[in-house]
Amino acid sequence: MYESEIAKRKTFAIIAHPDAGKTTLTEKFLLFGGQIQTAGAVKNNKINKATTSDFMEIEKQRGISVATSVMTFHYKEKWVNILDTPGHKDFAEDTYRTLTAVDSVILVIDCVKGVEEQTERLMEVCRMRSTPVIIFVNKMDRDGKDPFDLLEELEAKLNIGVHPMSWPINGGKDFKGVYLLHNQSLNLFESSKTKVADDVVKINGLSDPQIDTILNAKDASKLRDDVELIDGVYGELSQSDYLNAKTAPVFFGSALNSFGIQELLDTFIEVAPNPLPRATTKREIEPNEAKFSGFVFKIHANLDPKHRDRIAFLRVCSGKFERNKNFKHVRLEKQMKFANPYMFLAQSKEVMDDAYPGDVVGLYDTGNFKIGDTLTEGESFIFKGIPSFSPEIFKELINIDPMKSKQLEKGIQQLTDEGLASLFLQELGNRKFVGTVGELQFEVLQYRLEHEYGAKCRFEPRGIHKACWMSGEEADLKDFMKYRQTNIAYDKDNQPVFLAETAFILRMAEEKYPNITFHTTSEFKV
Ligand code: G4P
Repeated sequence: MYESEIAKRKTFAIIAHPDAGKTTLTEKFLLFGGQIQTAGAVKNNKINKATTSDFMEIEKQRGISVATSVMTFHYKEKWVNILDTPGHKDFAEDTYRTLTAVDSVILVIDCVKGVEEQTERLMEVCRMRSTPVIIFVNKMDRDGKDPFDLLEELEAKLNIGVHPMSWPINGGKDFKGVYLLHNQSLNLFESSKTKVADDVVKINGLSDPQIDTILNAKDASKLRDDVELIDGVYGELSQSDYLNAKTAPVFFGSALNSFGIQELLDTFIEVAPNPLPRATTKREIEPNEAKFSGFVFKIHANLDPKHRDRIAFLRVCSGKFERNKNFKHVRLEKQMKFANPYMFLAQSKEVMDDAYPGDVVGLYDTGNFKIGDTLTEGESFIFKGIPSFSPEIFKELINIDPMKSKQLEKGIQQLTDEGLASLFLQELGNRKFVGTVGELQFEVLQYRLEHEYGAKCRFEPRGIHKACWMSGEEADLKDFMKYRQTNIAYDKDNQPVFLAETAFILRMAEEKYPNITFHTTSEFKV
C-alpha cells in the first residue's frame, strides 16, 4: 500500500565536520527546491565554539535547531526530507541518533582540509548501519588538495570505495568547472549565489574539439589525461555497491557559489534509496505494509520553564500516520492519539493530517516519550538500531540540596530520556553516573536541572574510560558481574554495563573472561 507515496520520498542527512559547508549546502537544496527564495534564510545551527558556556547562546541555538531539525522540499516530483544534525561535537550522539532515522547521507568535505576528525566518526556510524553515502567535495573555488590525493584520502580514512561522478578542472582562482563523467558534459564554473541551475555544455566525449575552444590547451590536455586515468581505474558506478554502502559517488563543487548542486541533487534523487525496511525485535517491517509504525529518534525540549512541553520527532516506517487516530505506544502499552502533529516545511512547522514512510512527524509530548520508543497500529515490537554509544566523559551526579532529591531524580530521568546524556544507575549506594560526549552537556544539564526542576547538583569527575555492554554465556556474565560488582551499573533499559576505569583494565577483563565480549554500543550482533 501507499507505494506511490513511498516512491516519492527520500529521507537523508547532510553530515560534515563543522565549517565544511553543511548549512550552505542545505540552503542551496532548499533554494533549488523552491522552498526558500533567498540565500541566508537558513540559520546556522552550530553552537559557536567561542561561546560554549554561554547558556543564553546554547538556548538560542537549540531554539534554532528545533526549527531546522527537519526540512522538507519538493524537487522534480520527489518529496525530500533533510534531517539536520548538530554541528557541535559535544552533541555528536544527537547526530548518531538522527542517522538512525535516515535512509542515506550526503557527506560534505572541505577540499582544503580533506577528511577531518568529526567526518571519520560520523562515517563510522554510517558504516555500522550500512548507510549509503554520496560525497560532495566543497569549496572548489579555494586552493585545495589535489583531487587524486583527496580520493585516496577518502578511501583510506573513511574505509569506503569512492567513485568520482564529476572531475574538477583546476581549483582555487583557476577553477574552471567540472567534467561530468557519467554524461560527458562540461559544467562551467561561474560564481553565483542565487542561481538554481547549472550551465552545462553537452559535448561528445573528450575528443570533442569544443573542449579546445572552451578550455585553454593546458587545461584541456590535463582534463583528457585525468579522465583517461579515472576511466581506467573506476569504470562504471555500480548502483548496488552504492546502495550497500561499499562505494560512495563523489562530486566536486562549491556550495557557496551554487555550483555543482544540480548534478548532485539530480543524481541523489535518481540513485538514493527510498524509505527502506527496518529491523524490529519481532520481524522486519516493510514500508509498504498497510499498518502504521514508527519510532522516536529525537526529543526536543522547550527551554522556556513556563512551557515545559517537548517535541518528539517520529520517523514513519510503515503505513500511514494519521492525525487523531489511536496508536499504540509499545513500551507504555497504552493508546495515544495526536491532535496536532507537525510537519516541517523549510522554515515553518504546520499541523498535518497524514504522513507516510520516510516522513518525520513532530509530536507534542508531555513526558511520554523516550528516544527509541515505538508507535504501532496495534502490534508489539520495538525498532532496533537506535543504540546508545559509550560516552566519553563520565561524572557522578551529586545532590547538593537534600530537600529537592525528588525533583533531581525526575529531572535527570527526563533529561536523559531526551538523550542529552546517558544515565547509568548503580544499585549499590544508589549512585548515578552520567556520561556525555562533551563537557558542554554537563553545563546544560546543571543549568536545566536548576532552572526547570529547581534541583541543585554537582558533577564529580570519575575516572571511567568506557561503558561496555556485555554478551556471553549467562554463567560467565554472572561471575564477571559479581567479580566487578563495584563497576557494574544499569543503563536506561536496565541492561548491565561494565564501567571500565582504563583501557588496560578493560583489556585485563577481556583476557580474564575470554568468553565475554565487551561492546561500546548497546546494540550488537551476537
Ligand atoms: P557548516 O554548516 O558545515 O558548519 O558550514 P557553513 O555552511 O556554515 O560554511 C562554513 C563557512 O564556509 C561559511 O563561511 C561559508 O560561507 C563557507 N563556505 C561554504 N561553502 C563554500 C564554498 O563553496 N566556497 C567557499 N569559499 N566558502 C564556502 P563563514 O565565513 O564561516 O560564514 P558566513 O559569514 O559566510 O556565513
